[in-house]
Amino acid sequence: MLNMRRLLVLLCFLSLAPLLVKPLNPSLNDDVLGLIVFKADVQDPKGKLASWDEDEDIACGWEGVKCNPRSNRVVELNLDGFSLSGHLGRGLLQLQSLRKLSLANNNLTGSINPNIARLDNLRVLDLSGNSLSGTIPDEFFQQCSSLRSISMADNKFSGKIPESLGSCSTLASVDLSFNQFSGSLPAGIWSLSALRMLDLSGNSLEGEIPEGIEGMKNLRALNLKGNRITGSIPGGIGSCLLLRSIDLSENSFSGSLPGTLQQLTLCHNLDLHGNALSGEIPESIGQIEALETLDLSANAFSGKLPSSLGNLVSLQVLNVSGNSLVGPLPVSLGSLKNLQVAGFSQNSFTGDLPHWIFKSSFQKLRALDLSSNSFSGQIQSDIGDFTGLQFLNMSNNSLTGPVPTSIGRLKTMDVLDLSDNWLNGSIPSEIAGATSLKELRLQRNELAGNIPASIEKCSSLTTLILSQNHLGGPIPSSMSKLGNLQIVDLSYNSLSGTLPKQLANLAHLITFNISHNQLQGQLPLGGFFNIISSSSVGGNPSLCGSPLNRSCPGVLPKPIVLNPNSTVDSTPGSLPPPLGHKRIILSISALIAIGAAAVIVIGVIAITVLNLRVRSISVSRSAAALTLSGAVDELFSGSPGTDANSGKLVMFSSMDPDFSTGAHALLNKDCELGRGGFGAVYRTVLRDGHPIAIKKLTVSSLVKSQDEFEREVRKLGKVRHSNLVALEGYYWTPSLQLLISEFVSGGSLYKHLHEASGGNANSSLSWNDRFNIILGTAKGLAHLHQMNIIHYNIKSSNVLLDSFSGEPKVADFGLARLLPMLDRYVLSSKIQSALGYMAPEFACRTVKITEKCDVYGFGVLALEIVTGKRPVEYMEDDVVVLCEMVRGALEEGRVEECVDKALNDSYPPEEAIPVMKLGLICTSQVPSNRPDMAEVVNILELIRCPSEGQEELV
Ligand SMILES: *[C@@H]1O[C@H](CO)[C@@H](O)[C@H](O)[C@H]1NC(C)=O
Ligand SMILES: *[C@@H]1O[C@H](CO)[C@@H](O)[C@H](O)[C@H]1NC(C)=O
Ligand SMILES: *[C@@H]1O[C@H](CO)[C@@H](O)[C@H](O)[C@H]1NC(C)=O
Ligand SMILES: *[C@@H]1O[C@H](CO)[C@@H](O)[C@H](O)[C@H]1NC(C)=O
Ligand SMILES: *[C@@H]1O[C@H](CO)[C@@H](O)[C@H](O)[C@H]1NC(C)=O
Repeated sequence: MLNMRRLLVLLCFLSLAPLLVKPLNPSLNDDVLGLIVFKADVQDPKGKLASWDEDEDIACGWEGVKCNPRSNRVVELNLDGFSLSGHLGRGLLQLQSLRKLSLANNNLTGSINPNIARLDNLRVLDLSGNSLSGTIPDEFFQQCSSLRSISMADNKFSGKIPESLGSCSTLASVDLSFNQFSGSLPAGIWSLSALRMLDLSGNSLEGEIPEGIEGMKNLRALNLKGNRITGSIPGGIGSCLLLRSIDLSENSFSGSLPGTLQQLTLCHNLDLHGNALSGEIPESIGQIEALETLDLSANAFSGKLPSSLGNLVSLQVLNVSGNSLVGPLPVSLGSLKNLQVAGFSQNSFTGDLPHWIFKSSFQKLRALDLSSNSFSGQIQSDIGDFTGLQFLNMSNNSLTGPVPTSIGRLKTMDVLDLSDNWLNGSIPSEIAGATSLKELRLQRNELAGNIPASIEKCSSLTTLILSQNHLGGPIPSSMSKLGNLQIVDLSYNSLSGTLPKQLANLAHLITFNISHNQLQGQLPLGGFFNIISSSSVGGNPSLCGSPLNRSCPGVLPKPIVLNPNSTVDSTPGSLPPPLGHKRIILSISALIAIGAAAVIVIGVIAITVLNLRVRSISVSRSAAALTLSGAVDELFSGSPGTDANSGKLVMFSSMDPDFSTGAHALLNKDCELGRGGFGAVYRTVLRDGHPIAIKKLTVSSLVKSQDEFEREVRKLGKVRHSNLVALEGYYWTPSLQLLISEFVSGGSLYKHLHEASGGNANSSLSWNDRFNIILGTAKGLAHLHQMNIIHYNIKSSNVLLDSFSGEPKVADFGLARLLPMLDRYVLSSKIQSALGYMAPEFACRTVKITEKCDVYGFGVLALEIVTGKRPVEYMEDDVVVLCEMVRGALEEGRVEECVDKALNDSYPPEEAIPVMKLGLICTSQVPSNRPDMAEVVNILELIRCPSEGQEELV
């Protein structure tokens, strides 16, 4: 028998077994077999059907299965929310004793088997909440012998609702809601005389309600919401005396309310909103005394509200918003003591705000919407008695007088909208009491005075709209404590003073509109204010900051915007001429350079503050170490690798670090070779006459712990390449770090290119020299990248020239690794002097900084070498960005004009032009568009034309 069953399961699986043919002897095993076949058809990812064991003879102990205790036949299958997917197979048709089948809230797909309703004993069929689809075949309801309740809600069934539904006369409950049924309601639907509940909501049904509804003596709930049903509401509905809930909302019903509705004395829910119903609301509506919800909103009702509404003492929700109702609100409404939600908005109600509204009897009221009417008069101070009110909208009326101080008693108020009225006076500081307030809208009134600082107590505020009033005074700094603020609009007032810097801490801002006020000074830096739109801050003549394209006095660094020859007039209040005064349109890269400059300013300030703080602490303790005066001889007299005093000196090579001569001069100003972002460089000579360069790090307050510092420096020390300045050793104390490196005698490329040497400025560099410098620099950088080191600070003053070979040597690489983290503010401040070499991604927090930033710097450097121009040059009113200039010239076909005049036309254009093009490619805005340095080396070697190179050498 067991084997036989397995075989059957298998055959059924293959759809070969004629299962519809009843076995001659219906037995227990039909149930087991049917369930096993059902199980085989579905996927059971949560293993809910694990207890269904095909080797058992009865299914009664299985999960979700209930049997008749006498016959042991399966009478209920309840698999709600079992996460089953797959198709509804034919297995269930074997369950001949099944009375209740519920497969709700699974993930079943496919169409429905028409025979399922024919199960002789089936009373309840619940397939809601699956993804079943297709049409329901007409025969589906034809042989339903005992079906009482059917739900197919929340599936994807489509097509017409079958006419045969009307013949399934046992039905008491039909729920076909939220499918895609179309067409009209089945004409025979009202022959289901036993029907108590009909829910066809959320489909696309159209046409009119069929005739005959008056026969539905058992109907208790009718829901046709959200279809496209037309015509009038049939008067016969008044004969369905047991109706408790009628929802015909969101259809296209028209005509007036049938007078017969008054007979529905048991009805507690009447929802007709969102139709095209018209005419007056009949007085007789006051007879439906059981009503708890009456929603007539969004129709075309006209006339006055009937005062009989006051009889509906059970009413909890009354909404007549969005009609054409007129006149005052009837006084009788004052007896609706159970009212929780009241909507009167968007009508033409007139008169003073009715007194009944403010009677303390309305303790249950949670939401009151009186907006967009023509109510007049003052807001009574009794409004504070609405201790349970959460939502109050009186916007767009003609209310006058002040905002009562009693609003501070509305402890539960979430939303208060008094906008678009004639309210005057100031915003009461008592507002602080409304501690739940999330939205406060007071725009377009006549409010004056200051924004109360006490507003900080309304800590839930997300939306604060006070625009278009006459508010004055400063924006209180306490506002920056409202950490949930998202939307702030203070525009079109007369606010003055400077903006509190702390506003930048508001982390959730989406909008902060302060336009058209008299605010002054600098916009806060950071946070939302880095991306604030200019329209949100415009119309404040004395406000400055980059979103306004108006620099603040003494904030933008001189080298960028101003002619370095004209001294900055830093008298407070006098602004430098606005950027781009004559040339409004700045190039993108100029904007990036300027954006980057702003970043640099922040960084410089941060570093300076940090340094100052650290210095003031350590200056007394380690003044000697910092100045390295007398201590120097002692310091460097130790042997390699030993601690000298508190410091530790390490030399990587076997160099003798004993500075017998010139040690006194170490770090003496006279021997200073130059200064960079990371420190000053001094030259000294070892005992053997070997010159070295010593860099005193000025970032000592920022460097990592000794261990990490030493690890990073050792790594840098391992880098050896003929185009890289070798790091020979280091000296460490907690407050002073020195880096000892190879001394390169020829000076920096910057000096050769831009600083006059004996009246004979850069002419000393021939084309061949320049090409060699470009190539050598590229090789040095390529080697660095191969060692996974990013230079971060490539610029012409960091390329040194060997006076013997003329070879370039790249210095100062990887120093950013010595800082605790590669913070780009710190980084960009350290490379401030490299402005113009700085890749745009430094200014953009979201882009990762990779070795491609060096490629960018290299591209600028190559252009600088070919053109002899600085990366950024400052003219009278203008900033010229080198790569932009070359790019423009290239587009206009006059790129040769960019080549350094000092070359006197003695250069091969077939090399110079490709090198400039390469420079432009390297300065692509998008890092991934730049080649890597190894590719650059290859390209350069291809560009170099060997024959001509030799000619030049000759
Ligand atoms: C239903 O099935 C679909 C497709 O098989 C799957 O993406 C989805 O997560 C399932 N939903 C549930 C509730 O199991
Ligand atoms: C009243 O009905 C309108 C339209 O149906 C709806 O938008 C509004 O939220 C309702 N008002 C209240 C207070 O529930
Ligand atoms: C108040 O009502 C007005 C007009 O009916 C509407 O525009 C506004 O959105 C409502 N305010 C709130 C906070 O819902
Ligand atoms: C103000 O109310 C009038 C009349 O009800 C209406 O036409 C207008 O659209 C409303 N304005 C706003 C902003 O809701
Ligand atoms: C700045 O001054 C120097 C020397 O006085 C002069 O050569 C240079 O052209 C001036 N630069 C500008 C942009 O005016």
